[in-house]
Amino acid sequence: MKPPIIIINFKAYENSFGNSALELSKKIEKLSKEYSVEIILSVPATMIYRISNEVDLPIYAQHVDAVPLGAHTGAVLPEMIKDAGAKGTLINHSEKRLRADEIDDIIKRLKALNLESILCVDRYELVYPFSLLRPNAILIEPPELIGTGISVSKAKPEVITRAVDEIRKTNGVYLIAGAGITSGEDVYKAIKLGAQGIGVASAVMKAKEPEKVVEDFIINALKAMS
Ligand code: G3P
Repeated sequence: MKPPIIIINFKAYENSFGNSALELSKKIEKLSKEYSVEIILSVPATMIYRISNEVDLPIYAQHVDAVPLGAHTGAVLPEMIKDAGAKGTLINHSEKRLRADEIDDIIKRLKALNLESILCVDRYELVYPFSLLRPNAILIEPPELIGTGISVSKAKPEVITRAVDEIRKTNGVYLIAGAGITSGEDVYKAIKLGAQGIGVASAVMKAKEPEKVVEDFIINALKAMS
């Protein structure tokens, strides 16, 4: 993982699975190579195996459960996503929350398996305390802006700047910002405010030409970092 970090969360949009997810992933892979920027795809658990086999990008799960191996019907475990080809996972997304003790257990388990973790928080006050659990990155997303098209960088820039102040108290944990990011300008602003990358979903998943949106994001992320 290295800045600018761009993570695209496929969520459960209609193109998040099957052939359309694979086609989208291949288009993003092409852009990633063209601009030499790593783009993380966080895909439904059922798609990890297929996409990671056919696409040379870091593939993440969207969630893992904190239960041990055994009698846990429906559980998606760190061991399972690793076997399917994932490089890491999102943890504690606002749409899939976990308790703090579960988050701690999961991060330890991921580390033991050599898997990466991007831990989501919904407020800057949690950035430092959760950084003590040593995820690879913290993704800050005000839940009220998720999926709205109103970006955190424009509507709540102080969330990013305060999160950046908090992450500076620690070492070796990246800070990524997301929620409502729609335009290249949103990306540029988030990084200029101090984020080391961005998390996005709807602007890409609901676009007519997602590759154009992703390309604009990449160009602006690189411009902001230079
Ligand atoms: O994980 C990223 C996501 O929650 C942001 O969603 O639709 O606001 O880009 P969106």
